[in-house]
Amino acid sequence: MTTIRIIGTGSALPRKIVTNDDLSKIVDTNDEWISSRTGIRRRCLAEEGETTVELGIQAARRALENAKVTAQEIQMIIVATCSSETNFPSVGCQIQAGLNANNAVAYDISAACSGFLFALNTAQAYARTGNYQKILIVGTETLSKVIDWEDRSSCVLFGDGAGACVVEASPIGMMNYVQHSDGSQGDVLSCYTSTMRTPVISKGMSMKPLHMEGQAVFKFAVKTVPGCISQVLEGAQVSKDRVKYFILHQANQRIIHSVAKRLNVPKESFPMNLDRIGNTSAASIPILLDELNSQGMLEPGDYLVLSGFGAGLTWAATLLEW
Ligand code: UT7
Repeated sequence: MTTIRIIGTGSALPRKIVTNDDLSKIVDTNDEWISSRTGIRRRCLAEEGETTVELGIQAARRALENAKVTAQEIQMIIVATCSSETNFPSVGCQIQAGLNANNAVAYDISAACSGFLFALNTAQAYARTGNYQKILIVGTETLSKVIDWEDRSSCVLFGDGAGACVVEASPIGMMNYVQHSDGSQGDVLSCYTSTMRTPVISKGMSMKPLHMEGQAVFKFAVKTVPGCISQVLEGAQVSKDRVKYFILHQANQRIIHSVAKRLNVPKESFPMNLDRIGNTSAASIPILLDELNSQGMLEPGDYLVLSGFGAGLTWAATLLEW
């Protein structure tokens, strides 16, 4: 049966690097607390001009180049984001314009940190119809615009960035996926604004759009992610020992280590970049995938499990052959 294969990856990060020490000048925090509770040491934050759209375009261009595919060959662009600068047009349509991908249909998916996987699953469903052969998937975020920069428990976690991949219809590649949501728990991680143009890192910002109950999200993640990964493996009758890397949403090192322990898989099989990048929501999985790809760490035939979790609440896992 037709599925999709990832044939190219790309990513883009803002130029400005902000360390934990830098944040200690904005809120009452310190490097020791942030790094021991989360594993995060620095993150990149967008400045003027580095928008969700612009970072997405850069990551998409790199993915197209890596895949050796032209923008005109792309038939669909699916963008996962929860930090669009506009209510409309969609980030997808703006990226389409930036790339001049005039043979594509473009749109956005809103599933926060699970968004990239929901987009990948959607791409597979379209490829299966036989109507779409080449699809561009982008996860792009500038959450720094909607963070409450007076809330030390959440502002230290997030970073900005974008990751993208080009997929094509293929007999091998994505083998199985599971995806879930529980809207009844939406309040534990929410954001009640949609459009802010200017990246703001300032004390005294009056809006407090992003709200997170950290411990509730932590418990949700360590409980649901191992089950979701087991489900995707069992559904494909693949043993966890066959999997080279478990590429998880980069929210917190302690969450990732806990998932590794619960699955009884060595933590070395869980690559991480959150120490340098922080939590970039829908962009975190494709950024990490691009790092592994560009470092030559992925070989044809490798099995990978991708898993995301976050606001909605939403969670998902995908098993694929590289
Ligand atoms: O993409 C999904 C998004 N979110 C997540 O994955 C987040 C999941 N949750 C977490 O990662 C953790 O819950 C946090 C890292 C957010 C917080 O860690 P925690 O171990 O759950 O800390 P806590 O909220 O229980 O707070 C412990 C203490 C509190 O002080 P008191 O009440 O014990 O005096 C906080 O006020 O740490 C304090 N605290 C801080 N101290 C220094 C909270 N944030 C900070 C901070 N610096 N940045």
